[in-house]
Amino acid sequence: MRSHYCGELNASLLDQEVALCGWVHRRRDHGGVIFIDLRDREGLAQVVFNPDKPGSFAIAEQVRSEYVLKVVGCVRRRPKGMENPALPSGEVEVVGETIEILNHADTPPFPLDEENVHEETRLRFRYVDLRRPEMQANIRLRAQVARTLRRFLDERGFLEIETPMLTRATPEGARDYLVPSRTQVGRFFALPQSPQLFKQLLMMAGMDRYYQIVRCFRDEDLRAERQPEFTQLDIETSFMDETAIMDVVEAMIRDLYQQVLGVTLPSPFPRMAYADALRRFGTDAPDRRNPLELVEVGDLMAAVEFKVFLEAARMPDGRVAALRLPGGAELTRKQLDEYTAFAGVHGAKGLAYIKVNDPSAGRMGLQSPILKFLPDHVIQKVLRRTGVKSMDLVFFGADRARIVNESMGALRLKLARDRGLERGGFAPIWIVDFPMFERSGEGDRWEALHHPFTSPRFASAEELEADPGGCLSRAYDLVLNGTELGGGSVRIHSRAMQMAVFRVLGMSAGEAEAKFGFLLEALRYGCPPHGGIAFGLDRLVMLMTGASSIREVIAFPKTQTASCLLTSAPIPASEAQLRELGIRLRRAPSPQ
Ligand code: AMO
Ligand code: AMP
Repeated sequence: MRSHYCGELNASLLDQEVALCGWVHRRRDHGGVIFIDLRDREGLAQVVFNPDKPGSFAIAEQVRSEYVLKVVGCVRRRPKGMENPALPSGEVEVVGETIEILNHADTPPFPLDEENVHEETRLRFRYVDLRRPEMQANIRLRAQVARTLRRFLDERGFLEIETPMLTRATPEGARDYLVPSRTQVGRFFALPQSPQLFKQLLMMAGMDRYYQIVRCFRDEDLRAERQPEFTQLDIETSFMDETAIMDVVEAMIRDLYQQVLGVTLPSPFPRMAYADALRRFGTDAPDRRNPLELVEVGDLMAAVEFKVFLEAARMPDGRVAALRLPGGAELTRKQLDEYTAFAGVHGAKGLAYIKVNDPSAGRMGLQSPILKFLPDHVIQKVLRRTGVKSMDLVFFGADRARIVNESMGALRLKLARDRGLERGGFAPIWIVDFPMFERSGEGDRWEALHHPFTSPRFASAEELEADPGGCLSRAYDLVLNGTELGGGSVRIHSRAMQMAVFRVLGMSAGEAEAKFGFLLEALRYGCPPHGGIAFGLDRLVMLMTGASSIREVIAFPKTQTASCLLTSAPIPASEAQLRELGIRLRRAPSPQ
């Protein structure tokens, strides 16, 4: 039907006849001449209809936004002064000979060039939303990313292998999506939270190097960078240690940025221990474009009068951290109150501060409601340690370390954003030396920080069980601009060690057998040392496009309540379906 894409037209086609197909982006009536901007995947072309072709002109007069047209005509140079340098096809236009309306369209639910369309409307009419050039660019870049990653891995001997979607639970910390079995009533499949166990089984099967661009399903609370179904680039290798694995996937990410964006990332990526990341940035996913850092001052507060600091300094899991804000002395009372409220939202009970008008003038140069509780030598040490200069401000957080890290970490990001301190560009960093376990929310159990198949640093099961809290794991996360892009580890390949980890997690032998018997059995039959990683493809593409959420780079994403506004899924099952599955509802289906 078509000879060229609209966006392909340029001066090399002058005087040629072309046939274009696409959507009416805009139609303008200019005193007897009609201009139609015709749009397709590749861009826009301007088509002109003159009254000297009365048949075509009459049709051109009828068309409306988003009608689907086929137009045939001759390419000519636009008159002087009418060029549009913003368009690749902006030097030329098509003189319309014939026009065919391939389909009519109702008035679109929103104009395509409207910037502030409510996201619900965009998702409900996603097929219209996806016509917008920004969305087309995002989806195309996503395809290019997938293609580039595949090529890199194919060239290095990785095999793309599919793993099942109807399977058993894979523990990645979220709830499972369950699928009832009809043939075995009362039994359920779980959709995979990740292909973790299957990729390990593939290593046991001698596949050596595996990858897959694969959908994962997690029923968890959704945020801007989370979706209930999302895509991983999942990788596993045999006979490679963490250094070798990190090297190859790092090279892959560098290659990707070079190929797709023309951006050269650092080589090697910096590496930082988990404990250092928490100490300096309050998070294990630090944004290294942000120059602000937390500084430990708890040791200086062990004998001060200020109770808030004193208590936090003396708590076994307490922390007192300082955060210097360059130029912060100019903050107003109102701004300080707002930051205090912000820290409060993130769990802080308050936000102490010292304004530093002149650091060389002792107390006289400072301004703070807490000065009276702090002796001179403590103040001096705080100022020195934080490296303050004139007109800076130092914030303090004091509480359980978890709360200080959370609130001061969030404050650090907000301050840098509000005050324009962030560098641009891309800042990758590996986080390593994770603890193997952390205390559960209630504090009464150990939980795996990654998943329970991650190899501990300790060599023996006895050592591990003797000191779970003291054991680091062989895990690594890749963080880019403050977003956790990927995480992986060297895995456990010894059955004894795997059972020990299950025991530390409070699983009885029977429970371990019931949940992971197939894995424990497989570990008996010749399991190679192996390890891997998985990247969040949606997050990767989000960062590469500069999009504000992963929903902007997923063709048909779900909402915060995990529903699809386009199809209205999920919907209630019919009585007949439920009966066939042997399921009776305990509650009436929730309304939409
Ligand atoms: P993990 O759970 O860290 O590791 O997941 C790997 C990466 O997947 C992305 N991701 C998500 N993206 C969008 N929406 C979500 N709900 C979501 N959850 C995770 C993140 C994350 O870094 N099996 C292990 C990997 C391994 O050990 O090899 C795993 O799944 O970018
Ligand atoms: P107060 O003695 O409660 O009036 O607090 C004095 C100052 O300490 C105020 O600026 C509070 O915001 C601040 N503050 C209170 N609790 C904390 C805390 N847990 N961490 C940091 N600052 C706090």
